Amino acid sequence: MKTIIEPFRIKMVEPLKLTTVEQREEILRKAHFNPFLIPAEDVLIDFLTDSGTSAMSSDQWAGMIRGDESYAGAKSWYHFEKVLKDLTGMPFVLPTHQGRASERILFELYGGVGKIIPNNNHFDTTRANCEHTGAEALDLVIDEGKQSQLKHPFKGNLDPQKLLQLIENAGVERIPLVMITVTNNSGGGQPVSLENIRTIRKICDQYKLPLFLDACRFAENAYLIKMREPGQSHRTAKDIAQEMFSLADGATISAKKDGLVNIGGVLLMRDPVKAHNAGNLLILTEGFVTYGGLAGRDLEAMAYGFQEVLDEGYLEYRLRSTAYLGEGLTRHGVRIVEPPGGHAIYIDAAHFCEHLTADEFPGQALLCELYRYAGIRAVEIGSVMFGKIDPKTGKTIHPPMQLVRLAIPRRVYTQSHIDYVIEAIAEVFTNRRKIKGIQIMEAPSVLRHFTAKFNVME
Ligand code: F0G
Repeated sequence: MKTIIEPFRIKMVEPLKLTTVEQREEILRKAHFNPFLIPAEDVLIDFLTDSGTSAMSSDQWAGMIRGDESYAGAKSWYHFEKVLKDLTGMPFVLPTHQGRASERILFELYGGVGKIIPNNNHFDTTRANCEHTGAEALDLVIDEGKQSQLKHPFKGNLDPQKLLQLIENAGVERIPLVMITVTNNSGGGQPVSLENIRTIRKICDQYKLPLFLDACRFAENAYLIKMREPGQSHRTAKDIAQEMFSLADGATISAKKDGLVNIGGVLLMRDPVKAHNAGNLLILTEGFVTYGGLAGRDLEAMAYGFQEVLDEGYLEYRLRSTAYLGEGLTRHGVRIVEPPGGHAIYIDAAHFCEHLTADEFPGQALLCELYRYAGIRAVEIGSVMFGKIDPKTGKTIHPPMQLVRLAIPRRVYTQSHIDYVIEAIAEVFTNRRKIKGIQIMEAPSVLRHFTAKFNVME
């Protein structure tokens, strides 16, 4: 059959509240034109993030009821550990409350002033945790990964030449570990090939460097390898994922993505001494090593989620529905980061709002219009998120791309929801010249894009 269906049926529904354009204009004003400040119940289609927003399965909910809440050695812990060991082959499995807790521990062990930590592209939290220790977070994605229109199957690849150059120029002793983010969220959700991970592994072996994966979306990456990498189509996604983990010395995972849960994370390690030290840090802020800041029921939900996510029918539907959204938008002339990756479609907002300058924050302006016109919430990945204020001139230094990310929650929306989004964005695109710019009214430094106030420029 050509039609790929949602491989599940719906057992419980959460009604969506319908609002009018007038109501949404009022809501937007109250939220100071910042979608992070809009109450979620006033959002029709929430594409803010794919993190922690998955719908859980009947097995996961049943597991939660069975959750063992013992402080140490709970049955749910052993279930979780067994699933993670089978998937990753890592001898040391530490549960954490989410990805950034794993990162905080990892970089406390490996980071520090003068150190450089390369990645294809650091996600905000890995960069922040890395820099918090005084280390430098360096992005070494291949050049193809920086060109939004270029079609390349693995735009998330880490450039081996750039890594070798870094080792030569900075000195191997300054590099405590090499990291690869699968899929590369900050680089447009693009996958990393198995061949690339193998190549980076060889370089790491040559220089005795540990290789860590930021493996939040390992299953989507594995399925994209199956679909796009020569010689991989006959393998199961699980088999490919197992090989990805076998090439690494450890991994940080936010289970809120491919763990199919609403909260949870993992830190995986092979080195027994580092794992012992990580366990101590875990106890310091998260909890005992067999629950890591989570309830037993959360461990149970993760144990099922990490297995379900590798179901080939699920992955086929997941990646097809992301591509379907991308194709629908490009059909109407909307420019996106090509080709569609796993978890999100990234709209080129500078192209969409050609009539606006970067100082008018086209991404944020488009976000507001998508909400105003159709109740769709997305996130800006451009000057609001990454722009820096030049201390000398007081002007914004803009990042190279102004993107709006439509991140698709897992197993939540159906094809007709996606059709609605395509239709709505196509209409906004037709009337794009009416979109007004945005001005930052107030920008406290720490939570800038969460608390900044926006006002439509007249
Ligand atoms: N690494 C990557 C690649 C991520 O995308 C995220 C989270 C994290 C680490 C941190 O995980 O949120 O569980 O602490 N990304 C979310 C997003 C927030 O919307 O892309 P966390």
